[in-house]
Amino acid sequence: MISKVIISSIFLSLLVPATSCAKGNDSQMTSLHKAPLQKAQLQQVVDTAYDKYKGLKDGKNADYIPILATVPSDLFGIVIVTRDGTIISKGDIDYKFSIQSVSKPFTASLVMQQQGPEAIAEKIGVEPTGMPFNSKIAIELLKARSVNPSVNAGAIAAVSMVKAKSEEDRWDQIHKNMSDYAGSDLTLLKEVYDSEYSTAWSNRGIANLLYNYGRLYSEPEEALNVYTKQCSLGVSAKDLGIMGATLANEGVNPITNKRVLDANHVPELLAVMAMTGFYDESGIWQYTSGLPAKTGVGGGIVTVVPGKFAIAAFSPRLNEAGNSIRAMKAIRYIAGELGVGLYGANPE
Ligand code: DON
Repeated sequence: MISKVIISSIFLSLLVPATSCAKGNDSQMTSLHKAPLQKAQLQQVVDTAYDKYKGLKDGKNADYIPILATVPSDLFGIVIVTRDGTIISKGDIDYKFSIQSVSKPFTASLVMQQQGPEAIAEKIGVEPTGMPFNSKIAIELLKARSVNPSVNAGAIAAVSMVKAKSEEDRWDQIHKNMSDYAGSDLTLLKEVYDSEYSTAWSNRGIANLLYNYGRLYSEPEEALNVYTKQCSLGVSAKDLGIMGATLANEGVNPITNKRVLDANHVPELLAVMAMTGFYDESGIWQYTSGLPAKTGVGGGIVTVVPGKFAIAAFSPRLNEAGNSIRAMKAIRYIAGELGVGLYGANPE
């Protein structure tokens, strides 16, 4: 257990605004000067979380996308990326797995950047469904149909909203946006794409239902195909950490210093993640961790501590809701130990 005094000193130094870090003024010197101490303390919490959960074997890999069942289940990695670009990690943080639903807020962000946050609220919705990520019943029952950008329906709708001249242009923009968040050129995992697209009957049904209700804004097959490519992008836990840190850093990638999202849109995006990022477990996630996050059936989770850092983790075994068990537990433990929940410190 880390003492509260040490933890307070870490977070006083992490409160240095990103703009001062980027400009290299006196505040940056102070921040950088203190960086080794911050890193040592954060490393201790990450190491403890890793040791605490590394032996946990609960849950199983997703298998409705057949190739996901073949990912080695014991892989486990945890990473913290601070808004000044410091990386703290333990375990399998470089293994490339498919981003899956962790991609969804990042495409919603591209739509926000092109059309403003109102477009997301009006043309998709921002309410939680309280239902599984692939629910067709939610589309029938809830007037917004697509309901929010985190469920498959809303995410396919977000893909269809990207202003594009062609299917290729739609994919290029989404791919580039995701790569800008990661600070490196992300690669499509072709085997995952083939496995998912050849079995995408449920998502095809969703795309067609949305189109029927006037809540899809491109041809259904185009939206489905580009959405499936988006979900098949390969990322590591470290990539996810950098993507999350870009949101923690008010929309500027802390490694490349490139702005990816206007700072004034970040709160809306984080609010969507907080309300819907864990689907029908979003309430209990918020109740326990108090942080915006997004999960994916590839086993990745990214969590944002606004203005400070991101915590990302990867472990392929999932619970019934499609959320990675070890990643969820490790992040929740770290957030609790560090006392960074948005509603107040909330240790386990
Ligand atoms: O559309 C799907 O079913 C997958 N490409 C993504 C689902 C997913 O990651 C759900 N999250 N935990």
